[in-house]
Amino acid sequence: MTTVASIFESMAYGPAPEGDAPVREWLERHQLGTFGHFINGAFTKHGTTFAVNDPATGSLLAKVTQGTSDDVDSAVRAARAALPAWQQIGGHARARHLYALARAVQKHARLLAVLETLDNGKPIRETRDLDIPLVARHFYHHAGWAQLLASEFDGFTGVGVCGQIIPWNFPLLMLAWKVAPALAAGCTVVLKPAEFTPLTALCFAEIARDAGLPAGVLNVVTGDGETGKALVAHRGIDKLAFTGSTEVGKIIRRVTAGTGVKLSLELGGKSPFIVFDDADLDSVVEGVVDAIWFNQGQVCCAGSRLLVHEGVAFALEEKLRARMETLRIGSPLDKSIDMGAIVDPIQLERIRTLVDAGVADGSQMWQPSWALPATGCFYPPTLFTGVSPAARIVQDEIFGPVLVSMTFRTPSEAVELANNTPFGLASSIWTENINLALDIAPKIKSGIVWVNSSNLFDAAAGFGGYKESGFGREGGREGMYEYLVPAWKQHAPDAADPVPPVGNTGATARTEAGLPALDRTPKFFIGGKQARPDGGYTLPVRAADGRTIGEVGDGNRKDIRNAVSAALAAKGWARATGHNRAQILYYIAENLSTRAGEFARRIDAMVGGGGGLIEVERSIDRLFTYAAWADKHDGAVHNVPLRGVTLAMNEPLGCLALACPTQHPLLGFVSLVAPAIAMGNTTVVIPSERHPLAATDFYQVLETSDLPDGVVNIVTGSRDVLVKTLAEHDEVDGIWYFGPRAGATAVERASADNMKRTWAEWTERDWTSAAQGEGREFLSHATQVKNIWIPYGE
Ligand code: NAI
Repeated sequence: MTTVASIFESMAYGPAPEGDAPVREWLERHQLGTFGHFINGAFTKHGTTFAVNDPATGSLLAKVTQGTSDDVDSAVRAARAALPAWQQIGGHARARHLYALARAVQKHARLLAVLETLDNGKPIRETRDLDIPLVARHFYHHAGWAQLLASEFDGFTGVGVCGQIIPWNFPLLMLAWKVAPALAAGCTVVLKPAEFTPLTALCFAEIARDAGLPAGVLNVVTGDGETGKALVAHRGIDKLAFTGSTEVGKIIRRVTAGTGVKLSLELGGKSPFIVFDDADLDSVVEGVVDAIWFNQGQVCCAGSRLLVHEGVAFALEEKLRARMETLRIGSPLDKSIDMGAIVDPIQLERIRTLVDAGVADGSQMWQPSWALPATGCFYPPTLFTGVSPAARIVQDEIFGPVLVSMTFRTPSEAVELANNTPFGLASSIWTENINLALDIAPKIKSGIVWVNSSNLFDAAAGFGGYKESGFGREGGREGMYEYLVPAWKQHAPDAADPVPPVGNTGATARTEAGLPALDRTPKFFIGGKQARPDGGYTLPVRAADGRTIGEVGDGNRKDIRNAVSAALAAKGWARATGHNRAQILYYIAENLSTRAGEFARRIDAMVGGGGGLIEVERSIDRLFTYAAWADKHDGAVHNVPLRGVTLAMNEPLGCLALACPTQHPLLGFVSLVAPAIAMGNTTVVIPSERHPLAATDFYQVLETSDLPDGVVNIVTGSRDVLVKTLAEHDEVDGIWYFGPRAGATAVERASADNMKRTWAEWTERDWTSAAQGEGREFLSHATQVKNIWIPYGE
């Protein structure tokens, strides 16, 4: 018999189920759970449907329509038609709509939480306490950005119609992360939810309509990857935001290359969870529970790689096993369970396959002794020890409740292990020593760092990754820029890009005495030294009138590889202080100034027109601009609801490849190199293909300006050939390309392999103006934001 005394003795939990009546009623109201799409403010008649199941029971929840390309097209048309009015109502009116959406989410919180739990299988405790409150928080926060748009984003305008594709792990939260900033910016949306979890998106669309959101501003098209493909391929969208697997992210990068569609990708992760020997191990254990067993580990930023200082590894693993033994898994609607169901049998099978691979590799696998529920899609919390850093379970994203544990001896070994992954989404650092934590945080290549905490999110702090975890940020000011474009740029025409004339069209230059000029073929500038072209080939450089005025080396793959190695070897530049970098930029400007006449003559000879001196003066001005910025492109301390601080730090990308515009041989070169190095990047630069001599003359300025070797490397030759090698190079972190559309397309496509960040532009830009040729746009392309969360209190 159960007595109060026996309950106190065992501390056993009784069942505490949340009722699902509101969801059943909602489904019944919609043709017994059969849905069309939500387009232009109303549900469409359903088409061919597929089943949506409750993963905890396997039973049918609803049927939704498989979206065709015609469905996608009508949704895009509705979004396009709604765009002008949505932009014209202005920031304040949009703020009111977003505020109304936040309020509506709160009013329907219970319905949304239960629906999400039934559809996804995650515990009601999570949907009720985390997903849905955060959804409301995102709409509130972005109501604020809508209100402040004109003042805080002066000169910017909403990018237009946005296609948004989201995954199944946080269905409504991912919707909010994407829809809220888009609507705030004055964009309209076509959203495709994941095929496993489309229901809260449909429910939200209806709630939004009832809250007065104008028809066509938010459209939801359901379906699987084929529907996603149709949306990606649609030429009527201006921006595409995707969250999901790295594999699909790469496909999307390739398909959208050269279309001009603005792209943000939030992809997979294999985040390290680093425990130093002075960490509070009991807190660490709870941190691990939040890191990898939250949402059954189906979290892109899950702390799935436990890296433990050797001295405490045994003790921590013991504590972890004990804690795993007490985790409760079961009906997701039960308020007292810790872990719910895996989203779908397909995902369960993926997890099993990877775990089997771990066991076959010889790693030790441990699972608690309790049994799983007899039916439904469940997987137990799992710990692997004795794994090798190269094992598949260490490298691949498992996206399930599976933790792999490894040890390290020194902080630098921890950093090395942490960064030994193609991903770079999040990381977690556990130590009682704040100096150590803040020393390690900048060394980890990830967009988010949680100190003594894990899986903290907020609308005010940007979320997004480095490397193959994608690019772009969601949340905060930086997230807003993903949905905005400078107004001048929106309708800029394609830039003219005169190709170098072929063949020897004129006489070779002669000296004043009429003698042939002494052959002086500038070499490349690699690692601070002048280097001969590997192939020994040269290209002629023509004057404006067609005469040959010199030759430059014709670089090849080997030259590019050497230049990249030199740039990588110069990483110490990232640690130079802003003040120090500024001093060097001023010194470069000073040295350029003393040779202004010589540079001006050279520019005049190449370009004609007599504007050489003005170009030199503008270049000096621009160098001053970035010397000024070097210690002023500050980060931020975000105001998140946390007892602590969230530091948003602007970090350099690393090794940047820069393909300079054809016009303005010196100004174009300086306009790219100066912001890149001011922010701490090292560079491989391809100067103007037609007018390269200003850049090669620049070596001497660099050599006399205290710039460390390898920070700027210059290889001349055929821009589109060289840039392709750079785009394909795995160790190049970012690439800027200013040239014709075909070249830009090739750059964007080739860079998908390692998901390097690209800025490829083929439209006209006035390099001579401060509004277009310099400033924050350049600084933000030269940096990426790392958000470091530091809670305080004992
Ligand atoms: P997925 O990347 O295939 O699906 C995400 C979304 O993209 C869904 O809405 C899907 O319908 C859509 N989609 C699929 N193929 C597409 C295409 N070719 N073009 C456009 N849209 C497309 O992810 P999936 O298959 O659901 O999960 C596979 C693995 O991906 C997981 O095991 C996990 O490792 C990873 N993943 C990572 C997520 C993250 O948040 N980083 C989220 C979901 C999955």
